[in-house]
Amino acid sequence: MRIDPPDYVKNTKLIEWVRETAELCQPDSIIWCDGTQEEYDTLCQEMVDSGTFTRLSDEKRPNSFLCRSDPSDVARVEDRTYICSLRRQDAGPTNNWVPPKEMKATLKELYSGCMKGRTMYVIPFSMGPLGSHIAHIGVEITDSPYVVVNMRIMTRMGRKVMDILADGRDFVHCLHSVGAPLEKGAQDVPWPCNDQKYIVHFPEERSIMSFGSGYGGNALLGKKCFALRIASSMARDEGWLAEHMLILCVESPDGEKTYVAAAFPSACGKTNFAMLIPPDSFEGWKVTTIGDDIAWIKPAEDGRLHAINPEYGFFGVAPGTSVKTNPNAMATLSANCIYTNVALTPEGDVWWEGMTDTPPESLIDWQGNAWTPDAGRPAAHPNARFTSPASQCPSIDPEWENPAGVPIDAFIFGGRRSNLVPLVYQSPNWYFGVYLAATMGSEKTAAAAGKIGEVRRDPFAMLPFCGYHMGDYFTHWLHVGRLLQEPPRIFGVNWFRKDENGKFLWPGFGENMRVLKWIVDRVHGRSSAVESPLGWMPKYESMEWDGLDEFTLDDFSKLMAVDREDWKKELLSHEALFEKIYDKLPKEFSHIRELLLSTFWLSPEHWGLAQERYTGEHH
Ligand code: OXD
Ligand code: MN
Repeated sequence: MRIDPPDYVKNTKLIEWVRETAELCQPDSIIWCDGTQEEYDTLCQEMVDSGTFTRLSDEKRPNSFLCRSDPSDVARVEDRTYICSLRRQDAGPTNNWVPPKEMKATLKELYSGCMKGRTMYVIPFSMGPLGSHIAHIGVEITDSPYVVVNMRIMTRMGRKVMDILADGRDFVHCLHSVGAPLEKGAQDVPWPCNDQKYIVHFPEERSIMSFGSGYGGNALLGKKCFALRIASSMARDEGWLAEHMLILCVESPDGEKTYVAAAFPSACGKTNFAMLIPPDSFEGWKVTTIGDDIAWIKPAEDGRLHAINPEYGFFGVAPGTSVKTNPNAMATLSANCIYTNVALTPEGDVWWEGMTDTPPESLIDWQGNAWTPDAGRPAAHPNARFTSPASQCPSIDPEWENPAGVPIDAFIFGGRRSNLVPLVYQSPNWYFGVYLAATMGSEKTAAAAGKIGEVRRDPFAMLPFCGYHMGDYFTHWLHVGRLLQEPPRIFGVNWFRKDENGKFLWPGFGENMRVLKWIVDRVHGRSSAVESPLGWMPKYESMEWDGLDEFTLDDFSKLMAVDREDWKKELLSHEALFEKIYDKLPKEFSHIRELLLSTFWLSPEHWGLAQERYTGEHH
């Protein structure tokens, strides 16, 4: 078939790959995306005409659209996600694996004729600022116009990237199909997809093949598939880090800038934390945003780690986002956004649970049905998303597109734990920090399939995103730290602890600035801390409480207390993860675990006394 690349497409590998793919998938036509506004507008209008998109009110949400997915296609599908390395032991026990040859045979059959009746789009994109030595290029071939317009917000996409590819360089091959060929004359559905889904990565080839889903990380292949799974494998080979982390900058009243990267599992409020607004009492302090989901981090010549956000937009969880929880995100959403699976108001605006205290009287829910507050079901899907340009964020950092990245001073790791894990603690050194991150646990959320509320180990928040063996990943982290003159400090946090009545003990959101300030002060050797069995902890008086008078020493003690027996159980439960990766477990981990366990030789009385050192009960 004719593939008619425009004159400016000079990369012969790309031309050849497009030809092969077109022969296999048999689309009706091919569009080489140039990334212009005109192209974006045309595609959006076509989707409005076909019923996939609803244009929102020009007054309320200019140039913005609502999209409803098929109810069966609403989240990442981890059980259908594969790392097809040549050798099984390179994928490791935490990834699904099938021999690449076998997987390719399966996929070839599925892709055969899968784009019949549809247009095939070729999307050149850069993860990271164009020309940055930390950035990498990919090309996604897809039959979904929804993917094209989302990729234009989420990545630097189009002609400029094609020009970089003109020198013949390699790129990450990302093939995507919704897997729903259209027979001649057949009527299309608003959200085509296939019950059979495959999200497949070939790390040695640096390629991705995704079939059957049009949603989020399953389909926008620059994000989880490339920037985390394939990139983590590239990073291991090349000596850098591709992480599931937000990046923010804390600026003090006298202009001191501290850059922090933080890892939290999906839907734990990374976007909120990245856009935090300090409480009024923190006069002169500022938090700015470099990224909200992914960080690519490289050792630089100054002996430090420098990070970029490889993305260009935010693909954030909508429910829970409001002018109270995240005013910066709400401002980012004022125009030029795509909303997926949120509710529609009669005025042509969007709504989701948590956006306002009182829901509107009537809505169209995420499935297109009439909805009233007494409906007994959420109006927006819990994993409903917004796609918005990062440049529209009022807190975006002036350095966010710096091709050299920003120097990282601290790493923060935090799960969603309703009990046991204290608000904040600092690891004694890099090795303990890597252990802390590796053994992080979190209660499940709606971003992935599974039972909500269950605790699972989510090492580095990378369990669903590491493109190789987790044991090798830990070893790689230990190794990177050894190369640094002064490795970043490592902290654990937990915003989600609850009291015996199920009420959150910590207000979170902007108040997390109090924790950030302690961390920043620790990094610069200013704030004090006491030793605990978990690491260094703040005393009540070493944190800033101005403006949060109702938060007493008593509340703090509840939030920081670590029950001896529960902590012992937690430590012993690390064994389950270690046993899983036992042949590749870094030897440092066994020693660290022994050291941590040794604290239980403290009598219960001594454990109590050690606690009082930081909970300050005897003040
Ligand atoms: C995300 C996720 O979409 O982690 O960012 O699931
Ligand atoms: Mn994420």
